[in-house]
Amino acid sequence: MAFPGSRPRRLRTSLAMRELVAETRLHTSNFVAPLFVKEGITSPQPIASLPGVVQHSLDSLEREVQELASLGVRGVILFGVPEKKDEIGSGAFDPQGIVQVALQRLSKTVGSEIVLMADLCVDEYTSHGHCGIVGKNGDVDNDSTLDVYAKIAVAQANAGAQVVAPSGMMDGQVGVIRSALDANGHSDVSIMAYSAKYASGLYGPFRDAVDVSIANGGNRKGYQQDFRNARESLVEVQADIDQGADIVMVKPALSYLDVISAVRAMTHLPIAAYHVSGEYAMVKAAAANGWIDHDTVALEQLTAIRRAGADIILTYFTRWFAENNG
Ligand code: PBG
Repeated sequence: MAFPGSRPRRLRTSLAMRELVAETRLHTSNFVAPLFVKEGITSPQPIASLPGVVQHSLDSLEREVQELASLGVRGVILFGVPEKKDEIGSGAFDPQGIVQVALQRLSKTVGSEIVLMADLCVDEYTSHGHCGIVGKNGDVDNDSTLDVYAKIAVAQANAGAQVVAPSGMMDGQVGVIRSALDANGHSDVSIMAYSAKYASGLYGPFRDAVDVSIANGGNRKGYQQDFRNARESLVEVQADIDQGADIVMVKPALSYLDVISAVRAMTHLPIAAYHVSGEYAMVKAAAANGWIDHDTVALEQLTAIRRAGADIILTYFTRWFAENNG
C-alpha cells in the first residue's frame, strides 16, 4: 500500500549506499592498545580471563609495539606487573621499575612511530592493592597519595613516556602532576586524565592481568565514582580540564555512553573512552560459546563508543581491529 511520508529504507538499498551515508567510521588510528609488562619473565604469559592478551616480557613487549606500529596503531598504554609490592607502591616511581625500564627501551626503538603512554597509578605496585597510600583509618589518603603520583609522573616522563594517564581518581591529581612535569623539564608531556572513572564490576579480568587483589575484600568506592551518578562526571571532567588535562577519559565505555555523550557536549578536548577488560571478556566468552558473533558484536560495540562521541578508544581489540578492519 502506498503511503505519504519519507522512506528511510531508500538509503539502505545497497552496500555502496550504506557506506555513503554512514555517520560513524572507525579507523586504526582511533585505537590505543593496553599492554601489560611483567618483571622477571622471559616469555609472554597468557591471561585466562582475557583471551588473546598476555603479560609481556620486555622482549615480547618490544616486538608487539613494533608490530602494532607497523599495522598503523598510534598509541599504546603500559601497565606494569612488578615482582615485589610494598605499602606505597615504590616500584611505580623507581627508575628501575618495570614500566620505566620498558619505556626507556621503547622510546629508543619505536617512540617516534607510536605514542607511548603510561598508566599512572600505584595499585599494581601496592601490597594492599589500593590506588593510593592507606591512612590510619584504613581509607586511601588523598593528599599524601598526590606526592607519590608526582614522583611517578616525573619517573615515567624521564623514561620516555609521551603521555601520562593518572587513573587513581584522587582529587587534585592532574594539577599536581602538571606542576611536577613542568618543574622537571617535561612541559611537552601530555596528561590523559581518567576523569570520569566508575567503581565498576567490569575490571575483574584486568586485576588478573596485573596480579592485583584488594586487601580484606576491599573495594574502590571511596575514590572511584558511584555508577548511579552522571552529572558528577561533568564535575570531575571540569576539574581535570581546569587543572590542565590534555585529553579526558570516561571509563568503562559501554555502560557509560550517556556520560561520553554529555562530556562531548561540554568540551572540545579530545575524549578517550576505555572499553575495559570485562567488556572485552564478555564478548570473547559469549562468542566462544557460539552465543554471539564475535566480529559483529566487537564492531558494534566499538562503533557505539565512537558514535557517543569518543575520539580515542582504549581497547584490547586494537590489534584485532588493525589486522582485520584497518
Ligand atoms: C588502575 C586501573 C584499572 C584499570 C585501568 N587502570 C583497575 C582499577 O581501577 O581497578 C582497569 C582496566 C580494565 O579493566 O581493562 N591502575
